[in-house]
Amino acid sequence: MAVTIAVIGGTGVYDPEILSDLREEQLSTPYGQVQLKIGSYQGREVAFMTRHGADHSVPPHLVNYRANIAALRQLGVKSIFATAAVGSLNMDFAPRHFVLVDQFLDFTKGRPSTFVEQGVVHLDMTEPYCPELRQVLLRAARELELPCHPAGTYVCTEGPRFETPAEIKMFKMLGGDLVGMTSVPEVVLAREAEICYATVAMVTNYAAGISSSKLSHQEVVEIMTDNGANLRRLLMRAISLLPPERDCACHHALAEPVAVPEKNN
Ligand code: HPA
Repeated sequence: MAVTIAVIGGTGVYDPEILSDLREEQLSTPYGQVQLKIGSYQGREVAFMTRHGADHSVPPHLVNYRANIAALRQLGVKSIFATAAVGSLNMDFAPRHFVLVDQFLDFTKGRPSTFVEQGVVHLDMTEPYCPELRQVLLRAARELELPCHPAGTYVCTEGPRFETPAEIKMFKMLGGDLVGMTSVPEVVLAREAEICYATVAMVTNYAAGISSSKLSHQEVVEIMTDNGANLRRLLMRAISLLPPERDCACHHALAEPVAVPEKNN
């Protein structure tokens, strides 16, 4: 059976618990080896990959994003649900809330961020996160009565350090709602690979300077673990709501829009 759905588990999401008949696979890509698990859920094959490696040890700026997305593309995956722990810049987005990210601001610095090494390819980024997957996630969250915001702008920093309060103030002025270290280039590469991609962000803390206390990675992991069961319920409900046969504009993202010929009169 084809593996058309994948979950990329971020910080605190290390276990594909709900999948049955799990098997491990190692895939070779032009960018390196990738290990992932494949299991089934309600009769559908789902791939599960941990973003930070099998032993959760790869920091955000060193994740091999190209290998991860290339491996999913090789498997034939058409839809990716990614999880992300984020800090909040928006007082309406409180810890433990879910946010279906719809835009990003890229503040990464030194990451390989494209598959394009030849030719002129300027990919449209009007809707970087798949609107259809976001809609499915929103429906799942509503059905489960989980606190979930339908949209939010994710500021991606290089990390691995947390931000200064001055940076957070700037990001807020620029329109950011959330801050994290991994959505870029993952979302960009998925789009280049013509795979639908959506991020379920979970707020673990208010960002530096907004929070009255200092930030720690341990706090982020604790909140992710504490609310992990809800995140898994949300993902699994979304997978069950996803129509088995789907075509989406994301699957043709590299096709240039066709110019409408001018009327000859
Ligand atoms: N900043 C960056 N990344 C994060 C944060 C944060 O405050 N919280 C969780 N991931």
